[in-house]
Amino acid sequence: MKILIAYYSKTGNTQFVAEKLAEELSKENTVEVKKIELKKPLGIFKGSWEAIRGKEPEILDLGISPADYDMVCIGCPIWAFNPHPAFNSIVSQCGSLSGIKTAVFATHGGQKKNALGKMVERVKDKGAEKVLYADFMVEDKEKTARKIESFAINLLSGF
Ligand SMILES: Cc1cc2nc3c(=O)[nH]c(=O)nc-3n(C[C@H](O)[C@H](O)[C@H](O)COP(=O)(O)O)c2cc1C
Repeated sequence: MKILIAYYSKTGNTQFVAEKLAEELSKENTVEVKKIELKKPLGIFKGSWEAIRGKEPEILDLGISPADYDMVCIGCPIWAFNPHPAFNSIVSQCGSLSGIKTAVFATHGGQKKNALGKMVERVKDKGAEKVLYADFMVEDKEKTARKIESFAINLLSGF
């Protein structure tokens, strides 16, 4: 399988998850990892407001087409109980997810509310049928790594 992992990360936690997930999935698949970059940095206040409002800040074009992959995984941190707005931007930028195995993941500090549900809905709006998802609190990296391994197994067997 050809798998894309696209993620936004400001302080490294989501990057840790994306890279460990790539390591696990690449044992038997071809995995591309792409970091989402904002055109202008978003501070915590504007970023939180945009997260709450479901805004789509400008991001650099990743030039990705989901049709080139069998599976697409998109990850971001949770800000103000919502997906970081860069998540909205990448989902909006990529083409139809119909027929593509789609997964979303988020990292957070323990207060996720319905952020994962919103992420699932957004990719479903782009045509994703079944969506697998997971969230991670990156406090203890060893523990998180075990949880990422389970998520990878789920992704390879759960669609
Ligand atoms: C502006 C801001 C808002 C945040 N809001 C939440 C939140 O609502 N709930 C939560 O559990 N964690 C929240 N966090 C913590 C981050 O989600 C967490 O540290 C995440 O792992 C950071 O990911 P990153 O290192 O990939 O940027 C917030 C962090 C920032 C900077």
